[in-house]
Amino acid sequence: MNGKHVTEVHGFTSETGWLDPLRSGEISRSFCESLEDGTILFIPTLPCEMARQDLEFLHSLEQSDTATHKNISYRPKEDILHGFSASKPEEEKRMHRIMRTYSRGVVAMLGKLLFHYADKWSLDYASYRPYEEENRKLPLHKRHDLVHTDAFPSRPTRGGLILRCFTNINSHQPRVWLTTERFPSLARRYAEEVGLSKIIARQASPLHRVWKNLKGIAGLPAAPQTAYDLFMRRFHDYLKENHDFQSHSEKFVTDFPPHSTWITFTDIVPHAVLSGRYALEQTFIVPVDALFDPAKSPVRVLEEIAGQSLIS
Ligand SMILES: [Fe+2]
Repeated sequence: MNGKHVTEVHGFTSETGWLDPLRSGEISRSFCESLEDGTILFIPTLPCEMARQDLEFLHSLEQSDTATHKNISYRPKEDILHGFSASKPEEEKRMHRIMRTYSRGVVAMLGKLLFHYADKWSLDYASYRPYEEENRKLPLHKRHDLVHTDAFPSRPTRGGLILRCFTNINSHQPRVWLTTERFPSLARRYAEEVGLSKIIARQASPLHRVWKNLKGIAGLPAAPQTAYDLFMRRFHDYLKENHDFQSHSEKFVTDFPPHSTWITFTDIVPHAVLSGRYALEQTFIVPVDALFDPAKSPVRVLEEIAGQSLIS
């Protein structure tokens, strides 16, 4: 494994946690603080035991119609599998079991590794990505090979950070990422061009407030998208549209080897996937107040630029 801003985790095993439990609080805190600075934590193993037959099953999906297996996701809170259809019911059961095992394995591992966050985070979806990322033909805003920060259009975080754990389950090939400078400096450079002021003005407009109040009176949920969510979604698209940024900004290549795991805040760390297939992923939403230094969160960085709250 090579790469800039990547820290390898030593002295930790998924099964037993820290080899030196007396220092676990101190070490865990230092990893949380590294993540808040935009570091990628690297662990050279799978997060949990995965049977060889299960890995082979996951690899076999590549040979079938990948279009039907494009967005395989698992919702751990409800224990529901989405986006996977198989002719044999036992295959669906197997896929469900594998995703459940992976999700629980990651939660257990991060519960030890980053335990300062563990009682505050919200467990989001897990997913399986069976396709080869190199030379995929996707619309511009959906391309993974263009550097971007993550934002979920259908699941606004309202200021929460997106913490993701990825595992390369490919037995032979690395998964190759590209990263660049972190969110705070990009935000300071591009926020106005992206339209931060316009987004704030639109959210504060009398028409928007009337609409919000009417929804409240009607008993409907208020608009879930805050100015922060709208900005982050626009920022994701803006970076992908910005040819000059994609072509000329300083980039760092990182190879994540077979059967390794890495963790990062994907809204602090702009990233692209250049190549690799067969990756599992589990997402957590971490509230700003759970951070050791909330000032490093994207929402606080943007609020400092804007001079006002973006999540009220
Ligand atoms: Fe991403």
